[in-house]
Amino acid sequence: MNKTESRKDEHVKVSLEKDVTAEHNYWDDIILVHNALPELNKNDIDLSTKLFGKKLGAPIIISSMTGGYEQAKEINENLAAAAEKYQIGMGVGSQRAALEKSDLKETYGIIKNYDIPLRFANIGASQLIMWGPKKTLENAKKMIDMINADVFIVCLNFLQEVVMPEGESNAKGVLDGIKKLSEQLNKPVIVKESGAGISYDVAKKLSKTKIAGVDVGGLGGTSFAAIEHFRAKIKDDKLHERGGKTFWNWGIPTPTSILQVGDAMNWKVPIIATGGIRNGLDAAKALVLGADSAGIARALLKPATDGKKETLYEVGAIIKELRATMYLVGADNISKMPDIDWTITGENLWI
Ligand SMILES: Cc1cc2nc3c(=O)[nH]c(=O)nc-3n(C[C@H](O)[C@H](O)[C@H](O)COP(=O)(O)O)c2cc1C
Repeated sequence: MNKTESRKDEHVKVSLEKDVTAEHNYWDDIILVHNALPELNKNDIDLSTKLFGKKLGAPIIISSMTGGYEQAKEINENLAAAAEKYQIGMGVGSQRAALEKSDLKETYGIIKNYDIPLRFANIGASQLIMWGPKKTLENAKKMIDMINADVFIVCLNFLQEVVMPEGESNAKGVLDGIKKLSEQLNKPVIVKESGAGISYDVAKKLSKTKIAGVDVGGLGGTSFAAIEHFRAKIKDDKLHERGGKTFWNWGIPTPTSILQVGDAMNWKVPIIATGGIRNGLDAAKALVLGADSAGIARALLKPATDGKKETLYEVGAIIKELRATMYLVGADNISKMPDIDWTITGENLWI
């Protein structure tokens, strides 16, 4: 295994074996108002939606997680089977490893064997600086071909970069890189955070590019600082173990980020809400706040490691819960969700 391969492997192992979630899940602070008279037949509720021009069976995305080492192929295949069955979107993890070592392509490309309505290619933002615009464009096309992607994700992960020993320290020029790529690539480019969220001001800057959407990737679920804390602990690297702990809960809560990004971009581009979504009720809350779909990563990692049956079960349960929530708030289709009443409880969430 080269360094990138073993890092991706360790991320998955640590995420499976340790509790790497933020201390507080902010979806618990949002309450949807119960409708005691929904006047609907639950079976008539239509969960289908359109995202980036593609029809989905439900507004759910399996978020970018893995690829680039042998076991990842099986994880991606199990996730792909669920994405096909339920006709939902799916991303793969950063594809850098397969650009560096072409025999790893199949660990991502396996998802091409499945009829998935919306696929997301993925690269970390610091690569845009290291490659420069011309090579970024060339490599983006290779990554798209690798999985037949419909959308290209640039992942902002500077929290992870700052806490991990091998992290990139240069973030200068990322916005310009995103701007150029979104103008030149023949597929939609979206920007995704990976657990620390996107603020109003950052979204305003992004709104001046040609990006087609934002995945807010907010705080409340998987914490990359926590993952790096445990990775460092295994290696007896005290300094990075400490840094991971210090920044464990760093970021903008996912619900807050949806509202800030929506406001900054006048709700004109699709928003994916990833970060802390554990079930169909959390997904419904994201839609009520104004997201166009909910992204789920770690909640699907264990099932995807266990097998296809387990993955299908988990995704099926999440969709069933989403339908149940829509029934209880009286929404017969996805476009009604932003009109549903909600409130905030507790003092954890800042809006
Ligand atoms: C093991 C693991 C690997 C991940 N790798 C990537 C990645 O390569 N690219 C990316 O954009 N996000 C990556 N993520 C972040 C997720 O896509 C997601 O934004 C984050 O985990 C928050 O969602 P969650 O709370 O549902 O886990 C990864 C997450 C996990 C758990």
